[in-house]
Amino acid sequence: GLPARVRVHEVGPRDGLQNEKALLPFDVKAEFIHRLAAAGLTTIEATSFVHPKWVPQLADAERLFPLLRDLDGVRLPVLVPNERGLDRALALGAREVAVFASVTESFARANLNRTVDESLAMFTPVIARALDAEVPVRGYLSMCFGDPWEGEVPVDRVVRVARRLIDLGCAELSLGDTIGVATPGQVTALLTALNGAGIPTERLAVHFHDTYGQALANTLTALRHGVTTVDASAGGLGGCPFAKSATGNLATEDLLWMLEGLGIETGVDLDRLTGTSLWLAAHLGRPSPSRTVSALSPK
Ligand code: HMG
Ligand code: MG
Repeated sequence: GLPARVRVHEVGPRDGLQNEKALLPFDVKAEFIHRLAAAGLTTIEATSFVHPKWVPQLADAERLFPLLRDLDGVRLPVLVPNERGLDRALALGAREVAVFASVTESFARANLNRTVDESLAMFTPVIARALDAEVPVRGYLSMCFGDPWEGEVPVDRVVRVARRLIDLGCAELSLGDTIGVATPGQVTALLTALNGAGIPTERLAVHFHDTYGQALANTLTALRHGVTTVDASAGGLGGCPFAKSATGNLATEDLLWMLEGLGIETGVDLDRLTGTSLWLAAHLGRPSPSRTVSALSPK
């Protein structure tokens, strides 16, 4: 069966923008987030507290985050790789954070300058201190299906990192297809293995990039396995600058078109969201890669 309701975890302001070369002013980002909230999104990943030289687009987190204080009732998780990032986030009053692990050694090195185990050691005090502050932690797992340097990723390696993140205290895990190579059979295999390892499906989210046009098929497969939290990016922007060949995330509008057709509720208004993506595309100076945004835009 399929769920009656899906929670969309909107990653546009973070994953969507982090790969954009031209720096978007922080007040435009704040307006973007307000427009996303007005469209009905209730979980909006706002920014990252990473090293500013690594991700220059998000170096303005200290200026952006205070502009979001009026967004009552909207969850605004932020990425924190280490204790320095957590300190910055907590100082601004962040109420929810995410750490981001890699399943593969190649990407752990490229994205975090660490081995997989060193990165988990780096996250250990981050998660413990966040939980002490009553700040829930999401754990991302990148390269769950394929890796640009290592090829197909064995399921048992994903299960191992997932287990570690749960044991460290992550409330939710987001399974990342960072470079968008997964196909539905792999999604079934991974969700079955995680379930077999005792990780409850209620604590899993899926995070698909759409490089090969498989993101919706993969999402539908995950919904059939009981997943009810889906990451998506308004307008289909996104990608990780440290992952060779990564392109945009599953577009939130494409997701909504499918969910509306299936009668699955999200609370998000597709027309208002499309309007927001068209508005942002004008700021970025290029059209949204989303098929649905393109189909619904005035000709
Ligand atoms: P490092 O060079 O090993 O850092 O980078 P370090 O710990 O050796 O520290 C070096 C210097 O950086 C120190 O300064 C630190 O204070 C400073 P110094 O003492 O030399 O003057 N520093 C910081 N400054 C500000 N904020 C911080 C911070 N940390 C250290 N948080 C590090 C390690 C993790 C910092 C670096 O690798 C990094 O920032 N990586 C971020 C990469 C990133 O943001 N990638 C994109 C997000 S992941 C993604 O997109 C995938 C996802 O969407 C899921 C999917 O699709 O699979 C989530
Ligand atoms: Mg991503």
